[in-house]
This record gives sequence, C-alpha cells and structure tokens, in this order.
Amino acid sequence: MIVIAELLGIPAADQPVFRRWADALFDHTDVDPSAPVLEAGRETMTRLAPTIREMNDYLLDHIRGHRRAPGDDLTGRLLTAEVGGERLDDREIVGFVGLLLLAGHITTTATVGNTVLSLDEHPGVAAELRADPGLLPGAIEESIRCRTPFPRLARRSVIATRIGTTLVPAEAILQLWITAANRDSRVFADPDRFDIRRSPNPHLSFGHGIHFCLGASLARLEARVALRILLDRYRDITVVAPVEERNPWVMMSVNRLLLEVRS
Ligand code: HEM
Repeated sequence: MIVIAELLGIPAADQPVFRRWADALFDHTDVDPSAPVLEAGRETMTRLAPTIREMNDYLLDHIRGHRRAPGDDLTGRLLTAEVGGERLDDREIVGFVGLLLLAGHITTTATVGNTVLSLDEHPGVAAELRADPGLLPGAIEESIRCRTPFPRLARRSVIATRIGTTLVPAEAILQLWITAANRDSRVFADPDRFDIRRSPNPHLSFGHGIHFCLGASLARLEARVALRILLDRYRDITVVAPVEERNPWVMMSVNRLLLEVRS
C-alpha cells in the first residue's frame, strides 16, 4: 500500500482509510452467484455508492491539491500529460488514480497471502525456495495461476460472435472464468498440481489483450521481495486454522491469516 500511495503522491498514512474502502468494495459476502449479472451489478453499485462517493471526494481533493502544487509523482504526470493537445479531466484522473490505488495493493496483498497458503499446503516447497531463491518467481506465478486473485472478469459483446461452439449475441454480458481457464487441461498438464517449475505457465490471471494488467511487473516484484524477506526471516512458517477467506466469487484471497513462525 505504501508503494502505490507513494507512487501516486498520496499520504501513505491514510492507509487505514484505503483498507476500509478495499474491504467495503471487495469483502461483501452476500453475492448470489446465480443472480443475473446486470441486476446483481446494479444492486452492488447501489450498496457501494457511499464508499465510492467518499473515495471520489478524497481523490478529487488530492487532485486539486496537486493542481495547485504539482509534484513529480504519477498524479502530477497524469495532470500534465497531453495526447493530441488533449488532457485528462478531473473525473478521468479520479477514476484512474482510484483504480491504481485499489488495484495497486489488494492484488499483491492477495498474492502474498495466497502464496503463503500454497506453501503451507505443500510441505517441502518452502525449503526448496530457501535453498534456491531463483525458484521464487515460478512459485509466485504458480500461486497466481492456482489461486487466481480475480476469479472472473466481465465483458459486454459489441457484435454477435461465436466462441467455440457457443453463439454470443450482441450486447450480451459475459462472465469469463479466469480461474477455469487457468486449469484447462488442454493447456496445463496435471492442472490441479501446484508445480513451481511449470514452464511455460500461460495463466490468464493478469488478463489478456489491451487490458492486460498494467501493474503485473510491479505485482511480481513486490511479491518476490515480500516473500523472500518472509522466507529468509523465518525458517518455519505454519498457517494456523481457521483461515479467514474473502468471498471467492469476488476475490480469491485471505482476509486474515494467522501464522505460527520460528526464526
Ligand atoms: C497479482 C496481482 C494482480 C493481479 C492478479 C491483477 C489482475 C488484473 C486483471 C485480471 C486485469 C484485467 C482486467 C480486465 O481485463 O477486465 C488487470 C488490469 C489492471 N491492473 Fe492489475 N492485477 C494485479 C496487480 C496490479 C497492480 C499492482 C496494479 C497497479 C500498480 C494494477 C493495476 C491494473 C490496472 C490499472 C489495470 C487496467 C488496465 C487496463 O484496463 O488497460 N494491477 N489486473
């Protein structure tokens, strides 16, 4: 959270506020997976509106402050960026900075927690990683494949099309199950196996195409640094049950993870 707040020039001391927003936005437990996507989306937006309003007001203040005294950070750059003589307006910057602020921390946090869980489930792997830290990137990639932080994405079809044997009409709302794609046995041999040496590992957890995750490199780097420190600092890390998970229909991530450690 500190990394992304500092990149954006937002006070990292406001962390508790960002955490509260992230919990409100990603921690709802009352998701009905069988509800039609559009209606469920409308209902969710109504419920989340007060949090989104509070977040937008905070960010608008932040942006106005930056307009008065632009800093050499990402927000300052966004304010002065120009393409074809056009600049982003405040609403666009609020949207983008808000996305970065949230996407920039909950995802990496999820990945660190998920990897600790995966290591706990596979005794021996942590020792392998301590002996050869060069295996860590592969272990993180495999953890991101098996415990996909965002299990599904949504899309709207612009034109009628065919995907495999399925006809998709125009203007349809689609749910794309990344978590299922990541276990496609035509792509991944023995897909349910946690294999830190899987290569290639073409998982779709960071999305695909023009919307491919902007922060993928940063997320991989942050997870690598955090897990390396954790593994170096403690020779024994055991997860203490029960694990408090978020609602996996929303995010695959732990909410609270108690560990017993020995240094
Ligand atoms: C393991 C960590 C992460 C995962 C699994 C993840 C996942 C994703 C996915 C699936 C998308 C595509 C969304 C779509 O197509 O609808 C996406 C987009 C995005 N991510 Fe990440 N993300 C992670 C970390 C981050 C970080 C650290 C940042 C910011 C520093 C970030 C910023 C973004 C942004 C701005 C987009 C939108 C890109 C666009 O629409 O062009 N993400 N991410």
